[in-house]
Amino acid sequence: MDLTQFLQQLDELTASAVGTFKAALDQDALEAARIDFLGAKKGQLKAVQKHFGAVAKEDRPVAGQRFNETKQAIEAALENAQQRLQSGGGAEAQGDPQFDPTLPGQPFQLGHLHPITQTIEELKDIMGRLGFSVADGPEIEDVWHNFEALNIPAAHPARDPLDNFYLGVAAAGDADRRNELLLRSQTSTVQIRVMENCEPPVRIISLGRVYRPDTADATHYPMFHQMEGLLVDYQVTMADLQSVLRLFATSYLGEDVHIRFRPSFFPFTEPSVEVDYHWNDQWVEFGGAGMVDPNVLKAVGYDPAKVNGFAFGLGVERLCMRRHGITDIREFYKNDIRFLHQF
Ligand code: FA5
Repeated sequence: MDLTQFLQQLDELTASAVGTFKAALDQDALEAARIDFLGAKKGQLKAVQKHFGAVAKEDRPVAGQRFNETKQAIEAALENAQQRLQSGGGAEAQGDPQFDPTLPGQPFQLGHLHPITQTIEELKDIMGRLGFSVADGPEIEDVWHNFEALNIPAAHPARDPLDNFYLGVAAAGDADRRNELLLRSQTSTVQIRVMENCEPPVRIISLGRVYRPDTADATHYPMFHQMEGLLVDYQVTMADLQSVLRLFATSYLGEDVHIRFRPSFFPFTEPSVEVDYHWNDQWVEFGGAGMVDPNVLKAVGYDPAKVNGFAFGLGVERLCMRRHGITDIREFYKNDIRFLHQF
């Protein structure tokens, strides 16, 4: 027997032993396989070893080394199979145990940003080009920032416990309950936080979550996102507000979008408007806006005789719905991967 034949026998034996050990379903089958391959007298390894003497003398070092490696590989496969059966595993996948490097790999499933997060990024981009920088505020807010400083006094119905998520926590000695905490019901809170901390002129937007105990339907959800805008400067007009909102709407929703302004009321703006877009033969409200009420400017220490401004608060979901033709807001929060994958 020459060296090539001897090595071929070793390879065939290894493949056969590894496959048999992997397929063993219980200890008895494995023990039978062990005796068959590694048995001291009649084992198949022993049978191949008997041919060693027939290999040419100069080839024996190579043959001997490969024989030892084969023995180790078969013993390791036996050990693996023993561990698998001890830990309760059945047979391993049958078939060719060899790795096929030509098979295509399993592609990784890459996630991506939620459509609302993508929308927020795009809105920041558009408003950034109009000169607005981004400000942030907490989602757990106090009564001062959510109501009081926004000209919404204690008796106002907007503060009703049934219309807000109060957290039932107030600071000690807080007689007028200004520090009582709630989940913010609007991003207008950030107007106050910004003006408390910087002098005019101000030109900011703030995007984030707000919470209201609204019943979920096609256009309402108890948690949703708003984009707040605030501009305070000298001699700001309602026409400036309308121009900014029209520019924003055509940038995000397209040149052919129709928007309209309806007279409305908010305690923190005077005059106030609500803003609608036209979609599917209907007008749909997507935000509120107006000229900042002088009482709000006073509450943050600004002089309303010198500066004035406008503010707006837009529903981010309602904007995204119009842009992508989504007719039910609840789709955003079902976590249905078939819906989310479309963005
Ligand atoms: C406000 O929240 C005011 N803070 C907006 C404002 C800011 C006015 C600055 C003046 C100056 P309103 O409650 O109407 O307003 O909400 C604004 C927008 O949020 C709505 O037009 C709508 O697009 C969206 N919205 C309101 N409630 C829900 C809800 N439950 N689910 C989804 N979107 C909502």
